[in-house]
Amino acid sequence: MLQSLWYPSSLCCLLLLLPLLLRSSASVLTNPQYIECSEPEYLQCGKLNISYPFRMFESPNYCGYPGYELACDLDDEVTPLTIRLGEKSYAVLNISYQERVVVVVELYYMKIECPRGFTNTSLNSTLFSYAGYDSNLTVYLNCNFPNMQPQLPEIPCLRNRYASNKSYYKVDKGPSTFLDNFHGSCELTAAVPVYYKENFDATLKGGFGLTWNNSLDWWCQECMDSGGRCGHNETRPEDQICICSDTNRLRSCFYSKKCKEDV
Ligand SMILES: *[C@@H]1O[C@H](CO)[C@@H](O)[C@H](O)[C@H]1NC(C)=O
Ligand SMILES: *[C@@H]1O[C@H](CO)[C@@H](O)[C@H](O)[C@H]1NC(C)=O
Ligand SMILES: *[C@@H]1O[C@H](CO)[C@@H](O)[C@H](O)[C@H]1NC(C)=O
Ligand SMILES: *[C@@H]1O[C@H](CO)[C@@H](O)[C@H](O)[C@H]1NC(C)=O
Ligand SMILES: *[C@@H]1O[C@H](CO)[C@@H](O)[C@H](O)[C@H]1NC(C)=O
Ligand SMILES: *[C@@H]1O[C@H](CO)[C@@H](O)[C@H](O)[C@H]1NC(C)=O
Ligand SMILES: *[C@@H]1O[C@H](CO)[C@@H](O)[C@H](O)[C@H]1NC(C)=O
Ligand SMILES: *[C@@H]1O[C@H](CO)[C@@H](O)[C@H](O)[C@H]1NC(C)=O
Repeated sequence: MLQSLWYPSSLCCLLLLLPLLLRSSASVLTNPQYIECSEPEYLQCGKLNISYPFRMFESPNYCGYPGYELACDLDDEVTPLTIRLGEKSYAVLNISYQERVVVVVELYYMKIECPRGFTNTSLNSTLFSYAGYDSNLTVYLNCNFPNMQPQLPEIPCLRNRYASNKSYYKVDKGPSTFLDNFHGSCELTAAVPVYYKENFDATLKGGFGLTWNNSLDWWCQECMDSGGRCGHNETRPEDQICICSDTNRLRSCFYSKKCKEDV
């Protein structure tokens, strides 16, 4: 009687254990792409974690999505992580994978005490769009308004009360209106995306947010929770590849379905 009770319950335990046993055997590192994408120097730069759609330039291209390559230079203690957007290099200040926002600032504004070489920012809109909290910092450099001075604050580090030309700035939510209806002329005007802070310097050097499209990585949390790393195959960009320790799977390492072919 005792035995007949014991027997089925142990069978039941064995059945419960079976998937665990199978899973631990499946976590053997047999996937070279998992090993490649898991190099410690590819996963972190300073305080920031790097994961899909971002990857380090040195890592294989299947570890990230094209256009989201980062460079890490640990000799630069202030701005080790950088990204190139168009013609310019930006320091990466923070990345929130949950909110899909990366905070960047043009390196030039970080490195130069009192920058004068302002430029308009142009984004590749298939890669990034402005975060909801971004504003426009419009700068007007070396302006000569013979009749009426605009009611705008002056750029602090360029202020010179003896000069007749002055440099101004303003902050707008949304598109910059540039000079509105002011008459006069400036050496240079430009609109710089910013996250508005208490003063000009903090605003310029604090950077701005860029969001990326969730169609790139909507499955990644599930993949990472299952122990995998998201990946990409340029010939099959629509696949939700989860690079697991044993093989590449669709979306998550918990799914038994393998990718049609390896990345
Ligand atoms: C980076 O990843 C490590 C290991 O997964 C984790 O412990 C840490 O909290 C992460 N840091 C950030 C800033 O997300
Ligand atoms: C924008 O990025 C996409 C994806 O990397 C790329 O295919 C496209 O050529 C880029 N467009 C421009 C104008 O650089
Ligand atoms: C960076 O982003 C993380 C995650 O959103 C946030 O918790 C943290 O406060 C941010 N750090 C800075 C310095 O903004
Ligand atoms: C920025 O764009 C505005 C409006 O298109 C233009 O008037 C201005 O000259 C541009 N600034 C620079 C530095 O290219
Ligand atoms: C700033 O203004 C320019 C020109 O009007 C516009 O193209 C750009 O999208 C604006 N940026 C932000 C962050 O609103
Ligand atoms: C003052 O501004 C005007 C208009 O931009 C320019 O032609 C002139 O050279 C400037 N003067 C100085 C001293 O920079
Ligand atoms: C995100 O990407 C998808 C597919 O590429 C596209 O259809 C959609 O318009 C994009 N959304 C935004 C907000 O750019
Ligand atoms: C991407 O997938 C295709 C088809 O599944 C495969 O033949 C190819 O080898 C893969 N590309 C890379 C770079 O692994």
